[in-house]
Amino acid sequence: MARIVGLTGGIASGKSTVSQMFKDQDIPVIDTDHIAHKLLDKDTEVFDQIVETFGEDVLTPSRKINRNVLGKIIFSDKEGRQKLNDIVHPKVKEHVLHEIDYYIDEGEEIIVMDVPLLFEAGFDTLCHDTVVVYSKQKDQVSRLVSRENITEDYARQKIKAQMPLSKKKELADFVIDNSKSILETRKCFDKVLRKIKSLV
Ligand SMILES: Nc1ncnc2c1ncn2[C@@H]1O[C@H](COP(=O)(O)OP(=O)(O)O)[C@@H](O)[C@H]1O
Ligand SMILES: [Mg+2]
Repeated sequence: MARIVGLTGGIASGKSTVSQMFKDQDIPVIDTDHIAHKLLDKDTEVFDQIVETFGEDVLTPSRKINRNVLGKIIFSDKEGRQKLNDIVHPKVKEHVLHEIDYYIDEGEEIIVMDVPLLFEAGFDTLCHDTVVVYSKQKDQVSRLVSRENITEDYARQKIKAQMPLSKKKELADFVIDNSKSILETRKCFDKVLRKIKSLV
């Protein structure tokens, strides 16, 4: 029986960094951000539902979904966030389940899903183990500011829109500390992976 591992953390806490460590060990990682982005393409049910719900304002002049506008909805309007999540999450879950089936058929023993909202959206119920990547909030803010070219205030707002990282740590089966150097993170990752392997 394959072991399904849910990987999460805070925004810019190091999820992609750790997910690359799993990939480097030839462990498949299902990228839910990528799935969600694909679902926003034209000619999908999700696209139609989003335009129906939020109006033409969320479209660029070439009628693509404007992710910045959508981002503002997610991070500043709780009700809008809920509506958007209700449209997108069930579809993402469907795709994730398909990918899990595919990897099980391939004979994979460990399958990771990288889900920013693992606990918030209930994806943790699909997992045997949950792993949280932890960083200090001040590092999350500075990484967000430089990565997304946004203000510190907006970065803090984005962080606040999610469940507190301290709470995620409590809920997690394993915590990978990414508050120091990447090398330290790698050591922590190795320990956690060894434990997960012992559970397979
Ligand atoms: N321990 C670390 N030390 C320095 N930079 C880091 C560390 N962990 C992550 N980063 C950098 O911070 C940014 C955000 O990390 P990333 O893994 O993409 O976060 P997430 O996927 O959680 O948003 C990336 O540019 C990454 O290279
Ligand atoms: Mg990422």
